[in-house]
Amino acid sequence: MNDDDLKRQAAEAALEYVESGTVIGVGTGSTADRFIDALARIKSKIDGAVASSESSAERLRSHGIPVLDLNDVGDLPLYVDGTDEATRHLQLIKGGGGALTREKIVAGASRKFVCIAHEAKLVDVLGDFPLPVEVIPMARSFVARQLVKRGGWPVLREGFVTDNGNVILDVRGLKILEPARLEADLNDIPGVVTNGIFALRPADVLILGTPDGVRTLT
Ligand code: 5RP
Repeated sequence: MNDDDLKRQAAEAALEYVESGTVIGVGTGSTADRFIDALARIKSKIDGAVASSESSAERLRSHGIPVLDLNDVGDLPLYVDGTDEATRHLQLIKGGGGALTREKIVAGASRKFVCIAHEAKLVDVLGDFPLPVEVIPMARSFVARQLVKRGGWPVLREGFVTDNGNVILDVRGLKILEPARLEADLNDIPGVVTNGIFALRPADVLILGTPDGVRTLT
């Protein structure tokens, strides 16, 4: 089984969390795309979806799934999204696709966050994956200096603008031993929109695709 099969397996397993007559939150990335494709088969069961990116909104619409504005629907029962890294405590690094801010908003507005991934995303300690930080463009250099003071090595994601019109700094070298603390600390730097640590609002369920079938952590 290759990674794509494992992603699909995790995505299919997440369908069981979808309740009839609800609007659900949908994430971004190749694993979330597999979920959107699976969701298309049961689209008559749901009233629609809130997307965490323009690209996911487009994919949902291409399957005939109505895309709704979060402001019009209030809290959501369920959010399903992929991840770049996950720990056993369901703390995550997200934002490899640059959609971290909207992902964090939709996750925050959802009662249950089901994270789907292939098993290679499970790590003991977060931080091998460069931490994405979304930054207001005029604050780029200032924020980069603050990240260096914290031991990080920020690199501008070249040629990339987020759906919110901002830039991304990918930060290597940060020791993420206390994810919730670092998440709050980095979010306090003026000019940071948000960072890709999901520890203050971790996932509630982690579904991992493995060659032996799905493994679910709660
Ligand atoms: C996008 C994300 C994605 O969920 C993350 O990058 C994982 O992507 P993939 O499923 O393609 O491995 O956070 O901003």
